[in-house]
Amino acid sequence: PYVITTRCVDLKDRACVRECPVDCIYEGARALYVNPEECIDCGACAPVCPNDAIYFDQEVPGALQASIADNAAFFSLPLVDGAPLGNPGGARSVGPVGADTPLVAAQPPQVG
Ligand code: F3S
Ligand code: F3S
Repeated sequence: PYVITTRCVDLKDRACVRECPVDCIYEGARALYVNPEECIDCGACAPVCPNDAIYFDQEVPGALQASIADNAAFFSLPLVDGAPLGNPGGARSVGPVGADTPLVAAQPPQVG
């Protein structure tokens, strides 16, 4: 799947959301996250991100590797009222989740 890295933190341009044909890009408090089970690897999201935050998982730059597991953890950690978000089948109906993964939450403030 594709991965949204920590370059998205605090910037949240959301151009990626508009491109995704399966609506699998979910919004956290400080960043967005690709659901790795729902992503169909179409790649439409990556080129539209103005912050170069999105990569195919096997092509994530070395310094951003921690984002691979962290992006996936958004869906397995109990971030929504004590339960995991799982694979809801569409971000639009879920809306913004007011929480983030540990790696994203630990990032210093980022300005564009
Ligand atoms: Fe973030 Fe880039 Fe999407 S900044 S919200 S990954 S377009
Ligand atoms: Fe959507 Fe990007 Fe995957 S557009 S299907 S998250 S490659």
